[in-house]
Amino acid sequence: MEEMQKLIDLRNDFLKDIEEISNRVDLENFRVKYFGKKSILSDLMNILRDASSDKKPILGKEINSLKIELKNLFDEKKNSLSKNLDECNTFDKTIKGNEFFISNFHPITLVMNEAIEVFKSLGFSLAYGPDIEADYYNFSALNFPDEHPARDMQDTFFLDDYDENKKNFLLRTHTSPVQVRYMKYHKPPFQIISPGNVYRCDSDISHTPMFHQIEGLAISNDISFANLKWILTEFIHRIFGYDINTRFRPSFFPFTEPSVEVDMSCVICHGKGCRVCKDTGWVEILGAGMVHPNVLKNVSISPDEYQGFAFGMGIERIAMIKYGIDDIRLFFENDIRFLKKFC
Ligand code: DAH
Repeated sequence: MEEMQKLIDLRNDFLKDIEEISNRVDLENFRVKYFGKKSILSDLMNILRDASSDKKPILGKEINSLKIELKNLFDEKKNSLSKNLDECNTFDKTIKGNEFFISNFHPITLVMNEAIEVFKSLGFSLAYGPDIEADYYNFSALNFPDEHPARDMQDTFFLDDYDENKKNFLLRTHTSPVQVRYMKYHKPPFQIISPGNVYRCDSDISHTPMFHQIEGLAISNDISFANLKWILTEFIHRIFGYDINTRFRPSFFPFTEPSVEVDMSCVICHGKGCRVCKDTGWVEILGAGMVHPNVLKNVSISPDEYQGFAFGMGIERIAMIKYGIDDIRLFFENDIRFLKKFC
């Protein structure tokens, strides 16, 4: 009988499928397939309805006993499965979990750490200073004259809770005050770097009110500008590659004399000229110079006996050049799609 064959096939499929159930999701899918409203078993009623009247009694009996058998098999499977899962603390470890994102360091942390490692390998030790800084360390001791326009070079967040008139305290505008703090309490020779947050009242596609800098300082009785040139060139080569050229341009900072701004050949066009380097072939990367004798005097180090160099660079700027990013604000938006690129 053709209908009987259908029942045999159905039973075989059922036995095969039930063997493959290994978790609750499989079990539920199986239940819907065989026992749900529009399931294979409910279709059997159609077979019965369409059968000729002489076959109906036998077929009806067969369908009923098949249903009972399959229902028992299903219950057995369900019990054994939930017993297994209960033994595993009701946690079904066979269910596929949601994909998750393995965390990684923020691109600024990556570049900061890389820069620190390069300078450490060149013999620099780490020094830190406070974010809330006294005007004295941030400006005066660094040879910024009082009320001099040089203070306007850096748009300062003054903390006027302290002393409105004297504007004694502020959020440090650069990491250079750490130089002063370090020199005040240590006898040369030394060479330090100081990484940290700095704050300026400025915001556009290349400025954010908070950003990161790394400061460098080396003082001894025989340090020269040539040492500064070598250290900075080596740093740039290690971060960006040995095919990069450097250029030292005269500049001005109150705390160094002579002062320079250091450029590197554009990583995108290798000096040919492009949008990133504004067709100059060069990008500015940091400021540096020989420590001004007035700064040494302010920390009671004799400029007749000692000299040294200092440099300072913005980490966001390095990261932007390194990763070809043209809007600094991307670093602070916490867009996971952006951050994932640095995995
Ligand atoms: N403090 C400077 C700034 O934030 C950067 C800098 C330039 C630091 C020259 C230095 C230096 O130590 O010698 O713009």
